[in-house]
Amino acid sequence: MTETDPQAAIDAERKKHAHERDERVYEHVAGDSQEGIPFIGAGPGNPRLLTVAGKEAVESADLVVHAGSLVNSELLEAYCDDAELVNSVGKDLEELVPLMRDAYEDGRSVVRLHSGDPAIYGAALEQMDALEHEGVPTYIVPGVTAAFAASATLRTQLTLNETANHVVFTRPQGKTLDPEDDHLAEFVEMGDVTACVYLGTHAVAETMERLVEEGADPETPVSVVYHASWPDEDIIEGTIGDIGEKVEAAGYRASALVLIGDAAAGAGYERSYLYGGWAKRGETESDTDDTNE
Ligand SMILES: C[S@@+](CC[C@H](N)C(=O)[O-])C[C@H]1O[C@@H](n2cnc3c(N)ncnc32)[C@H](O)[C@@H]1O
Repeated sequence: MTETDPQAAIDAERKKHAHERDERVYEHVAGDSQEGIPFIGAGPGNPRLLTVAGKEAVESADLVVHAGSLVNSELLEAYCDDAELVNSVGKDLEELVPLMRDAYEDGRSVVRLHSGDPAIYGAALEQMDALEHEGVPTYIVPGVTAAFAASATLRTQLTLNETANHVVFTRPQGKTLDPEDDHLAEFVEMGDVTACVYLGTHAVAETMERLVEEGADPETPVSVVYHASWPDEDIIEGTIGDIGEKVEAAGYRASALVLIGDAAAGAGYERSYLYGGWAKRGETESDTDDTNE
């Protein structure tokens, strides 16, 4: 087969779907096993947090292309015993796409294992589009994203009545995000937002300094969860004013989730409507999205 430039393949797929949805969108529900290479969310680390659909797919795989140290090796040992394992770290699309395509075309069962959920900072779609362009079908199996593992660890919710009405998944400015696209200070200023900051462990101190410079309250609660759900999981609690120092003292430079906002501390919330005055409403009235769970 002739080699295709991945960017040209991505552009072609994007153009194709600009006006019409892929038919498979209507033929399957998430979690179905489908034809092709599944892009699986491995979850945050603990092998028990892989979904049933994900576990079934990796257990039957001949080739598992995984996201290196972001995927717990315990998970690979537990479920991918007989498979060939390939670490995707350091490989570009030009290498990854033919690797997966050739294995698939040779009749091998191929899975692509991303950390957490592929939809969050996963760069999955570009691989999927490049493969689709080469005639290899792909689909997504969702996973538990790091923010959900971190909130479970902290025994809190990311949304809390009267405290946090909104959640954002965000990242701080850096090599891949220009300062003008960093909206963290705006989210924090809104006051009722829980900001889940990915990819920022190495820059907690400077991120917090910037927030203070931009007017954030230094007393705003911040929780940093390192390796949520892993055996060496660690929690550092503080505020915008002091968390930077604490994370630097702990020496973490990667693999932590930073939760900013009152919900991180699980404090100051009010009981919800659902288990309050609304609890005994009629069934017709409850047929609406306008409730908490
Ligand atoms: C490339 S992003 C991938 C995120 C992943 N797709 C997800 O949904 O969790 C990697 C970042 O996710 C966060 N992360 C991933 N796994 C984590 C974990 N177990 N505990 C805390 N943070 C984690 C860290 O901020 C890390 O820098």
